[in-house]
Amino acid sequence: MKLKQLLSVLLAFTVLFSVMTACGSTSDEPDSAVTTSSTEAEEEAVTVDRDNTYAYDEDAPSLYEAFAQWFKVGTAMNISDLVEGTEEFEILVKQYNVFTLENESKPDAMHPSEDVYNFDALDQLVEFANEYDKTVRGHTLVWHSQCPDWFFYDDDGNTVSADVLVERLIEHVTTIVSHYKGEVDVWDVCNEVLGDSGGLRDSMWYQIIGDYDGDGDSYDYIEIAFTAAHEADPDARLIINDYSLESSESKAISMYMMVKSMLEEGIPIDGIGLQMHVDIGFDVETCKNNVEILMKLKSIDPDFVIEVTELDLSCFTWSDTSTEVELTDEFLEQFDSLYSDIFEMFIEFSEAGYLDSVVFWGYYDGMSWLNGYPVSGRTNYPLLIDRDYKLKSAYWSLIDLAESKS
Ligand code: G3I
Repeated sequence: MKLKQLLSVLLAFTVLFSVMTACGSTSDEPDSAVTTSSTEAEEEAVTVDRDNTYAYDEDAPSLYEAFAQWFKVGTAMNISDLVEGTEEFEILVKQYNVFTLENESKPDAMHPSEDVYNFDALDQLVEFANEYDKTVRGHTLVWHSQCPDWFFYDDDGNTVSADVLVERLIEHVTTIVSHYKGEVDVWDVCNEVLGDSGGLRDSMWYQIIGDYDGDGDSYDYIEIAFTAAHEADPDARLIINDYSLESSESKAISMYMMVKSMLEEGIPIDGIGLQMHVDIGFDVETCKNNVEILMKLKSIDPDFVIEVTELDLSCFTWSDTSTEVELTDEFLEQFDSLYSDIFEMFIEFSEAGYLDSVVFWGYYDGMSWLNGYPVSGRTNYPLLIDRDYKLKSAYWSLIDLAESKS
């Protein structure tokens, strides 16, 4: 009799509890049941406050994961950013999967005098990349800027002969690329070899080495650098990197003509780097047109690609000399939708088999080279993460784009 009574009390309790739960779930108030039964996107909307999410937050999305089906996403950084446990470190690991040193793997840093090589910074980046399964871009072996004078002058201050400079060039490229054989996946072998008014830049490399093999063209220093890099690491991807290829058709054509002739001679160039330091006046259609010109090189090498190597989006057009910009809702809408159009174009490039990776030139606004350049005292906001490491609305527009295209 007692057991029967106990069972009926338990039954009554169970019925009452079920009724209460059912009533609760029909209420208009959001509750946990609503969150768990909603779609993933709705869940994110409930749990992530887009205006207050930091790039290192555990529940923040990951940029490189969002675009993984199309291309890798990377950033330039400094070796001082790689301190485990810091916010910078967490951002890098979470948001990007390709890394390049902003300054520490340039000739002046890595090879400051003939007998001195500094491998420390790039060694550290390689170690980090191996541990976290990331890709490393080496930037850059040959450049007219940030290149020490010792390459070009002898002890008496006279310019060296073509033979001497060729020997120094081969030694420089071979030593560095061999040191990183199998570790640095991609090299910007030559940077900014074209001049602004068409044709080759009038650099010391060009002036001294010139038409070294006497075949009628004067880009022999480029050919020598690529050949030496390929011999030192046949598996590394070798890139010729330049600016304004995305906006100047004549520069894109110059690049196309020069690379075409080198590929036909069998020079091992695997791709063209588009720096893409673009601004708020950027024209996506011009960029698509120029990339189509460059990608005609696929008829010579079907694996030939472009890489976006130094992306940022200045809030000031080139002719604007002001130092401040007001980030009004209207301006941000324009900025965000331009970033979104650019990434939509990148997706198209990737789907056409053109594009391998997109690397930003810095990962938060406070570190960008565009602060103070080209106008001194300027504050710029060209990236996707703000000065406090919060995700900007442009970041979210890219996440939405990736989701809508998936
Ligand atoms: O390290 C010195 C420091 O010791 C000194 O006190 C200080 C005073 O000016 O200068 C420091 O060096 C600066 C260096 O960045 C490191 O911060 C140089 O002056 C400065 O000129 C240098 O600027 C770099 C620039 O390349 C040089 O051309 C930028 O950080 C770097 O973002 C920029 O990167 C280039 C790419 O390599 C190629 N494409 C264009 C891109 C933007 O210019």
